[in-house]
Amino acid sequence: MKVLITGKNGQLGYELQQTAPQGVEVFAFDSSELNIAEQSSVQKVISHIKPNLVINAAAYTAVDKAENDEQAAYAVNAKGPEYLALACKDIGARLIHVSTDFVFDATKNTPYDTSDQTNPLGVYGASKLAGCKAITNNLADNSVIIRTSWVYSTHGNNFVKTMLQLMAEKPQLGVVSDQIGSPTWAKGLAKACWAFAINTNTGIYHYSDLGVASWYDFAVAIQELGTEKGLLEKQIPINPIKASAYPTPAKRPAYSVMNTDDTYELLGEQGKHWRAALSEMLNELKL
Ligand SMILES: NC(=O)c1ccc[n+]([C@@H]2O[C@H](COP(=O)([O-])OP(=O)(O)OC[C@H]3O[C@@H](n4cnc5c(N)ncnc54)[C@H](OP(=O)(O)O)[C@@H]3O)[C@@H](O)[C@H]2O)c1
Repeated sequence: MKVLITGKNGQLGYELQQTAPQGVEVFAFDSSELNIAEQSSVQKVISHIKPNLVINAAAYTAVDKAENDEQAAYAVNAKGPEYLALACKDIGARLIHVSTDFVFDATKNTPYDTSDQTNPLGVYGASKLAGCKAITNNLADNSVIIRTSWVYSTHGNNFVKTMLQLMAEKPQLGVVSDQIGSPTWAKGLAKACWAFAINTNTGIYHYSDLGVASWYDFAVAIQELGTEKGLLEKQIPINPIKASAYPTPAKRPAYSVMNTDDTYELLGEQGKHWRAALSEMLNELKL
């Protein structure tokens, strides 16, 4: 099977390459080789490679910057998936696309189902939702959309690596305790994408590691496990703060936990608690 991966240098793009199953021929591209926001670039590369499957790991992920950069966010997150869907349709290829918990508005206090009403709070979520709609409109019968949340990896910039750095440098930290979600190791997400690559399912799925946390809970676990594994030399006080005390340009959902039952049932997996996944990621970071 020939699989084309976009956004090869991102967290997911990197982990997809690391976890590619045997027998899969991977063609991975960064934004300079395949710019998904340019239809000519998408058509040229896809019609040349003729993959059986495209996994779109490319996205405009700067959530705060997107608020003042709407055009760029929509070019990558809305037009990009549309161009990919159209190019896939032309050659009969399947498309696996990744979306976000930020399509929800946090008015629920129980996990979001795939059928729940979307209502993004900011430009990033709205642009990602527009991309999903473009895929559904153009390639519903040959595409999978996987919504995920709070992604981190040994590769790239993310909350875990930022926290480890701040914990090594600062005397104490304040971390938001009134936003709840599910942290997700990009390696597990990549393996889920590969599992979807070998089945024929279509439609929208939710994937995250199991369990829920606030950013504060997540930071406390990073410090505990980071110290245990020798990644941190000392422990510092971590104080819970309200999101209102840490204003950001983009409004974030206070609750964005997603129901992942259908996905794990389909994949025949039990799933991993986020703390166990974090522990494995920190082991890799130590190497
Ligand atoms: N990170 C999270 O917490 C999170 C949460 C929920 C959902 N997601 C979704 O999960 C997916 C993977 O996210 P991630 O964390 O792996 O993102 P990431 O680390 O920010 O990587 C995104 C990649 O997309 C590439 N890219 C940007 N514009 C592009 C373009 N026009 N053409 C081709 N490539 C382009 C970037 O490459 P350049 O650097 O070369 O521009 C970058 O390597 C995305 O769909 C994201 O929306 C992420």
